[in-house]
Amino acid sequence: MKIAYADPPYFGYGHLYNDTDIASAREYDDIEAWKRLIFDLSMNYDGWAVSMTSGNLHDLLPLFPKEARIASWVKPFAAFKRNVRIAYTWEPVVFWPARDSSKLGAQVGRDHLAEPITMRRGLTGAKPEAFCSWVLDLMGWVPGDRFTDLFPGTGVMDRVVAARRGVPADDQLTLFDAGVPVGQA
Ligand SMILES: C[S@@+](CC[C@H](N)C(=O)[O-])C[C@H]1O[C@@H](n2cnc3c(N)ncnc32)[C@H](O)[C@@H]1O
Repeated sequence: MKIAYADPPYFGYGHLYNDTDIASAREYDDIEAWKRLIFDLSMNYDGWAVSMTSGNLHDLLPLFPKEARIASWVKPFAAFKRNVRIAYTWEPVVFWPARDSSKLGAQVGRDHLAEPITMRRGLTGAKPEAFCSWVLDLMGWVPGDRFTDLFPGTGVMDRVVAARRGVPADDQLTLFDAGVPVGQA
């Protein structure tokens, strides 16, 4: 199965990214870029998940297939911003599982996660390891799947995939470059 996770700059928040050139980060301030992304995921992957901020639901949810599911990452420890009375302490993850039945080998789990934000990674929106592992389970990932992180940032998702496959990150790239799913090499 082909599985992808998409964690682009959130809609309207491209200005927060300086690890790439700002024109490129602002690409996702345009709804047309999100339409292209969701089309790509729907056409080219068996399972996928997309992160966004809760306010993005107004604009982005209508772009997804109605059968897509919505999960919630709740942050028991999150940043309280000056003059924001009710803090933003959760994020939606819209997902399409590659495997839906619990009989098909993927982890059984929940559509919510309570996990604090990660600190000091130097990148806005960097995700904690437990979040990455939970998203893999939402997508119905199993270790033999071909996995793509479309917006790797710190690379934490690939590291979690490597850890769950039980191979060093570099080795798994070599194996997949050769077109050989890990576990069948
Ligand atoms: C929300 S962050 C990803 C964080 C990542 N999931 C992590 O946990 O480290 C979004 C990433 O997409 C990158 N990015 C911005 N604009 C992009 C574009 N047009 N195409 C591809 N990547 C882009 C940003 O520089 C940033 O590294």
